[in-house]
Amino acid sequence: MIRFKQQRLALKIWLLSLVGSRLKAATDRPAIDRFDIFLLAIAWGNIGYAAGISYLRHVGDRVVNSKGPILECGSGATTLLIAMLTQNQKRDFVVFEHNLAWYRHLQLILKRLGLNHVKLIHAPLIDYGDFRWYTPPALDLKHPFELVVCDGPPGSIPGGRYGLLPIMGKQLSTTCLILLDDTHRKAEQHIITSWRQQRCLRFNRMGYLGSYSEVEFC
Ligand SMILES: C[S@@+](CC[C@H](N)C(=O)[O-])C[C@H]1O[C@@H](n2cnc3c(N)ncnc32)[C@H](O)[C@@H]1O
Repeated sequence: MIRFKQQRLALKIWLLSLVGSRLKAATDRPAIDRFDIFLLAIAWGNIGYAAGISYLRHVGDRVVNSKGPILECGSGATTLLIAMLTQNQKRDFVVFEHNLAWYRHLQLILKRLGLNHVKLIHAPLIDYGDFRWYTPPALDLKHPFELVVCDGPPGSIPGGRYGLLPIMGKQLSTTCLILLDDTHRKAEQHIITSWRQQRCLRFNRMGYLGSYSEVEFC
Protein backbone atom coordinates (compact mmCIF):
# COMPACT_ATOMS: atom_id res chain seq x y z
CA MET A 1 0.00 0.00 0.00
CA ILE A 2 2.83 2.40 0.97
CA ARG A 3 4.67 1.44 -2.23
CA PHE A 4 1.53 2.15 -4.28
CA LYS A 5 1.18 5.59 -2.64
CA GLN A 6 4.84 6.38 -3.35
CA GLN A 7 4.48 5.33 -6.99
CA ARG A 8 1.33 7.42 -7.34
CA LEU A 9 3.14 10.44 -5.86
CA ALA A 10 6.12 9.88 -8.17
CA LEU A 11 3.78 9.78 -11.20
CA LYS A 12 2.05 12.95 -10.01
CA ILE A 13 5.40 14.74 -9.61
CA TRP A 14 6.55 13.57 -13.02
CA LEU A 15 3.37 14.81 -14.73
CA LEU A 16 3.43 18.10 -12.81
CA SER A 17 7.07 18.73 -13.73
CA LEU A 18 6.13 18.18 -17.37
CA VAL A 19 3.38 20.81 -17.01
CA GLY A 20 5.83 23.07 -15.16
CA SER A 21 8.37 23.02 -17.97
CA ARG A 22 5.65 23.71 -20.58
CA LEU A 23 4.24 26.60 -18.51
CA LYS A 24 7.70 28.07 -17.91
CA ALA A 25 7.75 28.86 -21.61
CA ALA A 26 4.19 30.23 -21.57
CA THR A 27 4.86 33.47 -19.72
CA ASP A 28 5.69 35.42 -22.87
CA ARG A 29 2.35 34.45 -24.47
CA PRO A 30 -0.81 36.49 -23.80
CA ALA A 31 -2.96 33.42 -23.03
CA ILE A 32 -2.34 30.04 -21.46
CA ASP A 33 -2.71 26.94 -23.63
CA ARG A 34 -5.89 25.01 -22.76
CA PHE A 35 -3.97 21.72 -23.06
CA ASP A 36 -1.49 22.75 -20.33
CA ILE A 37 -4.35 23.59 -17.97
CA PHE A 38 -6.03 20.28 -18.75
CA LEU A 39 -2.78 18.42 -18.07
CA LEU A 40 -2.34 20.24 -14.76
CA ALA A 41 -5.92 19.41 -13.70
CA ILE A 42 -5.45 15.71 -14.59
CA ALA A 43 -2.08 15.50 -12.82
CA TRP A 44 -3.33 17.24 -9.69
CA GLY A 45 -6.74 15.56 -9.41
CA ASN A 46 -8.37 16.54 -6.07
CA ILE A 47 -11.73 16.75 -7.83
CA GLY A 48 -14.40 18.51 -5.77
CA TYR A 49 -11.88 20.87 -4.16
CA ALA A 50 -9.61 21.97 -7.00
CA ALA A 51 -10.47 24.93 -9.21
CA GLY A 52 -12.27 24.14 -12.48
CA ILE A 53 -10.52 24.25 -15.88
CA SER A 54 -12.06 27.57 -16.96
CA TYR A 55 -11.18 29.32 -13.68
CA LEU A 56 -7.65 27.85 -13.74
CA ARG A 57 -7.11 29.20 -17.23
CA HIS A 58 -8.45 32.60 -16.23
CA VAL A 59 -6.14 32.72 -13.20
CA GLY A 60 -3.19 31.79 -15.45
CA ASP A 61 -4.04 34.53 -17.95
CA ARG A 62 -4.31 37.12 -15.18
CA VAL A 63 -0.96 36.04 -13.74
CA VAL A 64 0.89 36.38 -17.06
CA ASN A 65 -0.75 39.73 -17.78
CA SER A 66 -0.03 41.31 -14.40
CA LYS A 67 2.91 42.51 -12.37
CA GLY A 68 3.58 42.78 -8.65
CA PRO A 69 2.97 40.61 -5.60
CA ILE A 70 0.31 37.90 -5.62
CA LEU A 71 -1.69 36.64 -2.63
CA GLU A 72 -3.57 33.38 -2.62
CA CYS A 73 -5.99 32.27 0.10
CA GLY A 74 -6.52 28.50 0.06
CA SER A 75 -3.95 26.33 -1.68
CA GLY A 76 -4.16 23.64 -4.35
CA ALA A 77 -4.14 23.48 -8.15
CA THR A 78 -4.09 27.28 -8.46
CA THR A 79 -0.99 27.41 -6.22
CA LEU A 80 0.90 25.09 -8.54
CA LEU A 81 -0.24 26.96 -11.63
CA ILE A 82 0.83 30.36 -10.27
CA ALA A 83 4.08 28.92 -8.92
CA MET A 84 4.92 27.45 -12.34
CA LEU A 85 4.12 30.71 -14.13
CA THR A 86 6.14 32.88 -11.73
CA GLN A 87 9.17 30.59 -11.37
CA ASN A 88 11.41 32.86 -13.45
CA GLN A 89 10.01 36.14 -12.19
CA LYS A 90 11.21 38.21 -9.27
CA ARG A 91 7.73 38.41 -7.87
CA ASP A 92 6.37 37.72 -4.39
CA PHE A 93 3.84 34.92 -4.26
CA VAL A 94 2.32 34.44 -0.79
CA VAL A 95 -0.16 31.65 -0.01
CA PHE A 96 -2.24 31.24 3.18
CA GLU A 97 -3.28 27.71 4.09
CA HIS A 98 -5.11 26.90 7.34
CA ASN A 99 -5.11 23.11 7.20
CA LEU A 100 -1.79 21.78 8.52
CA ALA A 101 -1.95 18.39 6.77
CA TRP A 102 -2.84 20.04 3.45
CA TYR A 103 -0.11 22.67 3.96
CA ARG A 104 2.48 19.90 4.49
CA HIS A 105 1.28 18.06 1.39
CA LEU A 106 1.55 21.21 -0.75
CA GLN A 107 4.93 22.05 0.76
CA LEU A 108 6.24 18.61 -0.21
CA ILE A 109 4.97 18.89 -3.80
CA LEU A 110 6.38 22.41 -4.23
CA LYS A 111 9.75 21.27 -2.89
CA ARG A 112 9.85 18.21 -5.16
CA LEU A 113 9.07 20.46 -8.14
CA GLY A 114 11.77 22.96 -7.15
CA LEU A 115 9.21 25.77 -6.82
CA ASN A 116 11.02 27.25 -3.84
CA HIS A 117 10.03 30.87 -4.45
CA VAL A 118 6.49 30.30 -3.12
CA LYS A 119 5.91 31.66 0.40
CA LEU A 120 3.42 29.01 1.50
CA ILE A 121 2.36 29.98 5.02
CA HIS A 122 0.50 27.85 7.52
CA ALA A 123 -2.03 30.41 8.81
CA PRO A 124 -4.52 28.78 11.23
CA LEU A 125 -8.03 30.23 11.32
CA ILE A 126 -8.95 32.51 14.21
CA ASP A 127 -12.13 34.17 15.41
CA TYR A 128 -12.77 37.77 14.36
CA GLY A 129 -16.19 38.03 15.99
CA ASP A 130 -18.69 37.57 13.16
CA PHE A 131 -16.36 35.47 11.03
CA ARG A 132 -13.26 33.29 11.07
CA TRP A 133 -10.27 33.87 8.85
CA TYR A 134 -6.53 33.23 8.59
CA THR A 135 -4.08 34.54 11.18
CA PRO A 136 -2.30 37.13 9.04
CA PRO A 137 1.46 36.73 9.33
CA ALA A 138 3.82 39.73 9.37
CA LEU A 139 4.73 40.13 5.71
CA ASP A 140 7.83 41.98 4.68
CA LEU A 141 6.72 43.12 1.22
CA LYS A 142 8.07 46.16 -0.61
CA HIS A 143 4.81 46.66 -2.52
CA PRO A 144 1.13 45.88 -1.80
CA PHE A 145 -0.58 42.92 -3.49
CA GLU A 146 -1.67 43.49 -7.10
CA LEU A 147 -3.49 40.19 -7.59
CA VAL A 148 -5.46 38.03 -5.14
CA VAL A 149 -6.77 34.54 -5.79
CA CYS A 150 -9.48 34.14 -3.17
CA ASP A 151 -10.40 30.43 -2.81
CA GLY A 152 -10.38 29.96 0.94
CA PRO A 153 -11.19 29.41 3.74
CA PRO A 154 -13.81 26.81 2.74
CA GLY A 155 -17.51 27.71 2.74
CA SER A 156 -18.11 25.52 5.82
CA ILE A 157 -16.14 28.06 7.92
CA PRO A 158 -18.26 30.95 9.36
CA GLY A 159 -17.87 33.89 6.97
CA GLY A 160 -15.99 31.76 4.39
CA ARG A 161 -13.82 34.06 2.24
CA TYR A 162 -15.26 37.29 3.64
CA GLY A 163 -12.24 38.10 5.87
CA LEU A 164 -10.00 39.06 2.94
CA LEU A 165 -11.14 42.68 2.77
CA PRO A 166 -11.44 43.54 6.49
CA ILE A 167 -8.18 41.78 7.40
CA MET A 168 -5.94 42.29 4.36
CA GLY A 169 -7.58 45.35 2.75
CA LYS A 170 -4.73 47.71 3.70
CA GLN A 171 -2.19 45.41 2.07
CA LEU A 172 -3.98 45.40 -1.28
CA SER A 173 -3.04 47.98 -3.88
CA THR A 174 -5.80 50.35 -5.07
CA THR A 175 -5.33 48.72 -8.50
CA CYS A 176 -5.49 45.19 -7.08
CA LEU A 177 -7.55 42.60 -8.94
CA ILE A 178 -9.33 40.04 -6.75
CA LEU A 179 -10.35 36.77 -8.38
CA LEU A 180 -13.14 35.18 -6.36
CA ASP A 181 -14.15 31.62 -7.20
CA ASP A 182 -17.61 30.03 -6.83
CA THR A 183 -19.67 33.20 -7.27
CA HIS A 184 -22.59 31.13 -8.59
CA ARG A 185 -23.11 30.30 -4.87
CA LYS A 186 -25.30 32.47 -2.63
CA ALA A 187 -22.57 32.65 0.06
CA GLU A 188 -20.00 34.20 -2.31
CA GLN A 189 -22.63 36.63 -3.70
CA HIS A 190 -23.35 37.66 -0.11
CA ILE A 191 -19.60 38.23 0.45
CA ILE A 192 -19.47 40.63 -2.51
CA THR A 193 -22.54 42.48 -1.15
CA SER A 194 -20.90 42.79 2.29
CA TRP A 195 -17.61 43.98 0.77
CA ARG A 196 -19.50 46.63 -1.23
CA GLN A 197 -20.94 48.02 2.00
CA GLN A 198 -17.36 48.71 3.13
CA ARG A 199 -15.65 49.87 -0.06
CA CYS A 200 -16.61 51.02 -3.51
CA LEU A 201 -16.14 47.95 -5.72
CA ARG A 202 -16.74 46.97 -9.31
CA PHE A 203 -17.32 43.33 -10.01
CA ASN A 204 -17.72 41.28 -13.10
CA ARG A 205 -19.18 37.77 -13.01
CA MET A 206 -17.52 35.48 -15.51
CA GLY A 207 -17.36 31.82 -16.50
CA TYR A 208 -20.24 29.38 -16.93
CA LEU A 209 -23.23 30.61 -14.84
CA GLY A 210 -21.00 33.34 -13.38
CA SER A 211 -19.00 30.76 -11.47
CA TYR A 212 -16.13 33.17 -10.75
CA SER A 213 -15.78 36.94 -10.54
CA GLU A 214 -13.25 39.70 -10.88
CA VAL A 215 -13.50 42.32 -8.15
CA GLU A 216 -11.73 45.70 -8.33
CA PHE A 217 -11.72 48.88 -6.25
CA CYS A 218 -13.44 51.96 -7.74
C1 LIG B 1 -11.45 25.27 -2.52
S1 LIG B 1 -10.00 24.64 -1.77
C2 LIG B 1 -8.68 25.52 -2.54
C3 LIG B 1 -8.69 25.39 -3.98
C4 LIG B 1 -7.40 25.73 -4.63
N1 LIG B 1 -7.32 27.14 -4.96
C5 LIG B 1 -7.28 24.85 -5.86
O1 LIG B 1 -7.36 25.35 -6.98
O2 LIG B 1 -7.11 23.64 -5.68
C6 LIG B 1 -10.01 25.49 -0.22
C7 LIG B 1 -9.41 24.71 0.92
O3 LIG B 1 -9.91 23.39 0.94
C8 LIG B 1 -8.98 22.53 1.59
N2 LIG B 1 -8.80 21.32 0.78
C9 LIG B 1 -8.32 21.26 -0.47
N3 LIG B 1 -8.35 19.97 -0.90
C10 LIG B 1 -8.84 19.24 0.12
C11 LIG B 1 -9.11 17.85 0.27
N4 LIG B 1 -8.88 16.97 -0.69
N5 LIG B 1 -9.65 17.45 1.43
C12 LIG B 1 -9.90 18.32 2.43
N6 LIG B 1 -9.65 19.67 2.35
C13 LIG B 1 -9.13 20.11 1.19
C14 LIG B 1 -7.68 23.31 1.77
O4 LIG B 1 -7.54 23.64 3.13
C15 LIG B 1 -7.90 24.54 0.91
O5 LIG B 1 -7.30 25.67 1.47
